[in-house]
Amino acid sequence: MRVLGIETTCDETAAAVVEAEVGGVPRILSNVVMSQIAEHAAYGGVVPEIAARAHVETLDRIVERAMREAGDLSFSDLDGIAAAAGPGLIGGVMIGLTMGKALALAASKPMVAVNHLEAHALTARLTDSVDFPYLMLLMSGGHTQLVAVLGVGDYVRLGTTLDDAIGEAFDKVGKLLGLPFPGGPQIERHARSGNAGRFELPRPMHGRDVADFSLSGLKTAVRHIVQSLEAPNQQDIDDIAASFQAAILDIIVDRTRIGLRHFRTRFGPPRALVVAGGVAANGAIRQALLRLASEAGLRLALPPPELCTDNGVMIAWTGIERLRLGLADTLEFAPRPRWPLDSSMQNIAGAKA
Ligand code: KG4
Ligand code: ZN
Repeated sequence: MRVLGIETTCDETAAAVVEAEVGGVPRILSNVVMSQIAEHAAYGGVVPEIAARAHVETLDRIVERAMREAGDLSFSDLDGIAAAAGPGLIGGVMIGLTMGKALALAASKPMVAVNHLEAHALTARLTDSVDFPYLMLLMSGGHTQLVAVLGVGDYVRLGTTLDDAIGEAFDKVGKLLGLPFPGGPQIERHARSGNAGRFELPRPMHGRDVADFSLSGLKTAVRHIVQSLEAPNQQDIDDIAASFQAAILDIIVDRTRIGLRHFRTRFGPPRALVVAGGVAANGAIRQALLRLASEAGLRLALPPPELCTDNGVMIAWTGIERLRLGLADTLEFAPRPRWPLDSSMQNIAGAKA
């Protein structure tokens, strides 16, 4: 089975072709990602209108390139077309989904409308052949979730953020420190030469028995420190970055531990801890999660950074997983800017995806 995947829910325009035989090792035939970071950097964050325009301008070329790099494929060589249909910025989602539908219609191929979060959740099955059930920790600029992944289409959200996403907290603190966007990698770099013990920062939710996150109090505490310093020098910035990152580490480990406990109580032992999202590129966080997993006697699946951040491979792979189960969608499928993974959350008005 060979599927084209299209991803346009945030600030990456991406397309990829993945091929898999039942029982065989899946192969990534192409993986084209165009990041819009440069376009958004001046504004210190992703601007929806700019994102939508960039998707419109580049998507057809990105898809062409993905097909070419996959071995000069034509659409008739595919078994299906998968496009992310949410959650995400409505403009981008409409563009990618419409492209997916148009290609599916023109080539008479099945279309799969993919939940972006489901795609993050299933990536470790492509990269690490992880079996169900497992616990996924998703940490990106838009999402922070602990999800019990029980099967394709069978997810239970154990925890989410009550305010900012983890990547968003990194980016906001980066902005407070006057660092370029996105703040995550910058803070990691500055933290290496900083003293994590210099500033005392809160660990919101610490020890609480629900697996939710809260980060806005931490961010506010950083703001107060920055304001109290008037003009922070290089060492101050390094020390704040290190203190902030140390707090985030503690929060992630503490929350994931609670998530694991809830998982075990409800579903028995998980087969792995799977990490996804751009924040998983952070070396200190990777180390801390490795320690946590080995302590818990759990396998840790950390897909390579380029598959942790948004990409078309994860959408194509989810298309394959769903098509194998006969789960194609109709061309009437409407974009879903909000689309919680957990079906029990679908009907909760305003549920934050
Ligand atoms: O998954 P992603 O590429 O995009 C979405 O948000 O969907 O994640 C981007 C986020 C940004 O907030 C960025 O600051 C954060 O991941 N990030 C990092 C690091 N690299 C990227 N955060 C901490 N440390 C890093 N090394
Ligand atoms: Zn994502």
